[in-house]
Amino acid sequence: MNADNPMTTRSKTADIIVERATSLAGTIVPPADKSIAHRAAMLSALAPGTSRIVNWPRSADPASTLACLKQLGVRTGEEDGVLLVHGGELHAPALPLDCGNSGTTMRLLSGILAGQDFEATLIGDASLTPRPMKRIMDPLGEMGARITSTEGHAPLRVAGNPALTGITYRLPVASAQVKSAILLAGLFASGHTTVIETTPSRDHTERMLGLPTLEVGGERHISSSAADRPKPGIWSIPGDFSAAAFFLVAASIVPDSSLRLTGVGLNPSRTALLDMLRAMGAAIEIRNERTVGGETLADLTVTSQSLSSIQVSGGVVANAIDELPILCVACAAAAGTSEIRGANELRHKETDRIAAMTRGLRALGADISEHEDGWTIRGGAPLTGGHVDSCHDHRIAMALGVAALTASEPVHIHGADIAAVSYPGFWDELARVAGR
Ligand code: S3P
Repeated sequence: MNADNPMTTRSKTADIIVERATSLAGTIVPPADKSIAHRAAMLSALAPGTSRIVNWPRSADPASTLACLKQLGVRTGEEDGVLLVHGGELHAPALPLDCGNSGTTMRLLSGILAGQDFEATLIGDASLTPRPMKRIMDPLGEMGARITSTEGHAPLRVAGNPALTGITYRLPVASAQVKSAILLAGLFASGHTTVIETTPSRDHTERMLGLPTLEVGGERHISSSAADRPKPGIWSIPGDFSAAAFFLVAASIVPDSSLRLTGVGLNPSRTALLDMLRAMGAAIEIRNERTVGGETLADLTVTSQSLSSIQVSGGVVANAIDELPILCVACAAAAGTSEIRGANELRHKETDRIAAMTRGLRALGADISEHEDGWTIRGGAPLTGGHVDSCHDHRIAMALGVAALTASEPVHIHGADIAAVSYPGFWDELARVAGR
């Protein structure tokens, strides 16, 4: 991997050139899970007293959450590499809260701010600003918050209401961010707030708050109330399965590879990709399973294998929503025709991920066609070199970087430094395990 521009600058256009790899070997310690990190910071901010967060990530998205919490009057510190968060009351911010690239920051924080006795404005970068916010504005509005936006987009002005009313809300889209925003607002509402999900989404919020969850006729009913407000504690953040996913696919498709990934979080609401890759023929072993802070962690070993095609649709899509771009790369390397459908939500991520992966993989010679809700990928077409664009989306940058490992010629990835949103050091790690 050659840096076209030095990756030490914060230029939004830093490029990376990825060359074909003959094999991958070594051990990777994936960065701490950003979904859990956001929640650990927010719950610690609400808990009166000092909480400790072990393995706080260096990635940009959790840093956005922490910066917003500081603007809300939360003090933080550091002791022996552990993040200290002194939580309690939040205070009106002097300036707009900048959520950067992070949808989780904007949506979950809106839920918290809905129940405060002050007003705050949330802003984001050019990728976050057009993302849909009506999905949280509607239920939080029903609870009594007043949220104004520009046609359902950021900036969001949240006029908090300390007298919110609990609601029962059936999620119209499978979204952990919407579910979490409502459940967090429920901590500040009278009575009980219940979210009903017909398709399960990641369950970190309910796990971390210890919220009661009922299975009713194939649906999940999750409730929160003022009694569930968090107490200070110690949060230990596992390695991010969604980050490990890039190396699971990379070592599967680059011949003669074997990688060990340590301390990977295996929350069952996040690991459908494991089953998908195994169904395609991937050789992934799970070792040393243990439970830390209510989450299962393990070490994974992956060795290269010939993959075959897969059909993906239905409820399992939500479980693998962040892994679908890298699944596309596995499908492009697999024998046969794969279909990934029911993934319309990908159009509303940091970029339109369906369009971005179609463009990127096609530019490298893959046989991929786009549907409104996913892709058809005829695998096995040899990948060539070329120029591709991250579209300012960390997962697109990393997925295309993995595809490039199998391309015959070098691949220039524009805006590759966006990987730092969830995986700082990704390009160095890729280079290291490729022996460069
Ligand atoms: C996240 C939930 C998912 C996921 C995002 C992180 C979370 O979004 O895509 O990267 O931490 O709750 P949706 O809940 O909107 O699908």
